[in-house]
Amino acid sequence: MIDIDRLYSDRAGKMRKSVIRELLKVTQDPEIISFAGGLPNPKSFPFEDIEGIINTVMKENGKTALQYGTTQGVEILREVIAERSKKDGIDANTEDVIITNGSQQALDIVGKMFLNPGDTAIVGLPTYLGGINAFRSYESNLTGIPLDEDGMQVDILEETIKNLLKDDILPKFIYSVPTFQNPAGVVMTDSRKRKLVDIANEYDLIIVEDDPYGKLRYDTPQIKPIKSFDDEGRVIYISTFSKIFAPGFRLAWTIANSELTRKMIVCKQALDLCTATFNQFVACEFIRRGSLDLHIMKLCEMYKPKRDIMINAIEKYFPEGITCYKPKGGMFAWPTLPEGIDTETMFLDAIKQKVAYVHGKAFHVDGGGERNMRLNFSYSTNEQLEEGIKRLGNVIREKLQKNKVVL
Ligand SMILES: Cc1ncc(COP(=O)(O)O)c(C=O)c1O
Repeated sequence: MIDIDRLYSDRAGKMRKSVIRELLKVTQDPEIISFAGGLPNPKSFPFEDIEGIINTVMKENGKTALQYGTTQGVEILREVIAERSKKDGIDANTEDVIITNGSQQALDIVGKMFLNPGDTAIVGLPTYLGGINAFRSYESNLTGIPLDEDGMQVDILEETIKNLLKDDILPKFIYSVPTFQNPAGVVMTDSRKRKLVDIANEYDLIIVEDDPYGKLRYDTPQIKPIKSFDDEGRVIYISTFSKIFAPGFRLAWTIANSELTRKMIVCKQALDLCTATFNQFVACEFIRRGSLDLHIMKLCEMYKPKRDIMINAIEKYFPEGITCYKPKGGMFAWPTLPEGIDTETMFLDAIKQKVAYVHGKAFHVDGGGERNMRLNFSYSTNEQLEEGIKRLGNVIREKLQKNKVVL
């Protein structure tokens, strides 16, 4: 018999399965209406465009597209990304861009690059679960800063950094999802972004800006990324094709100054040698034909009414007193339920009623979030959105009723 636990590294021994990946398994049951995954709507995928583009790539660039590429990524794709980023106020050139295997890989690279065991990084309360998993896998400590409807509370951030310093702890980086945050849906205000960069400048920290949802906006003008406030080159900007094209291609990118970029490339080399070259050519052609911008417009047209249906259904079917911020973009609603409810234990009741969500604790590094649930509105059909929220309303009502009986 192999004593496998003895053989595992301390790192691997401590790694836990992703709650979301586990939940997604339960929700394979076709009768379950799942608000759990952060999935794009499969009806949105541009099948015909992609079919045509694949043929073009084979004909025009087949030999290069089927070959290994550089670790940094295909140059013509990096060039169009740098060019597009200028419209967002990011002053990038081709050499500042790395193409990664999804933004999840970029988060892992950040962890690999900065975190020794026992190091501290700062994240939002709540924050993206995949970020927590990536950073924890490097045996780091994560300190959470609460969010409100204007994003991360930067005053508390500064206080927290001062307190950490008193204990001789200098955090390595601040991880932020400032735009249509996953899971809370909120957007950080420009004044807070400015303050955040000032704090990073003052305490000599890196900011890791994760921006998968910035282009999925429904009733707000374009939002400036933190990177556009970066006057000392300490923001690593990450974005992805997953939510605006197709996650199956596993394509994302980072933008950072040349020194950080060089180090990230070295860290990436051992992970995969290079990101799938073929996929990069496909994405590049999709952009060059003008299809990406059209596709983003279509996605916004598709998701905005879904957001409205979900938010209206929450008002209609959830018990009174339940608050839910109406996100101006992105893919998630994040209601807060009444005292006494734990969404983690309530999950099994929800599954019995054939509806699924992700419980709020999964997004908290401090054990909080028990009264929250993350609900995805992009994946389900409009009918499922209404029906699923109705079912969830019943589950919550029953839970409240039971709690009263116990009291
Ligand atoms: C905030 C955030 N970061 C990163 C990711 C990972 O995306 P991908 O690896 O598909 O680019 C997600 C996916 O849901 C996300 O919500």
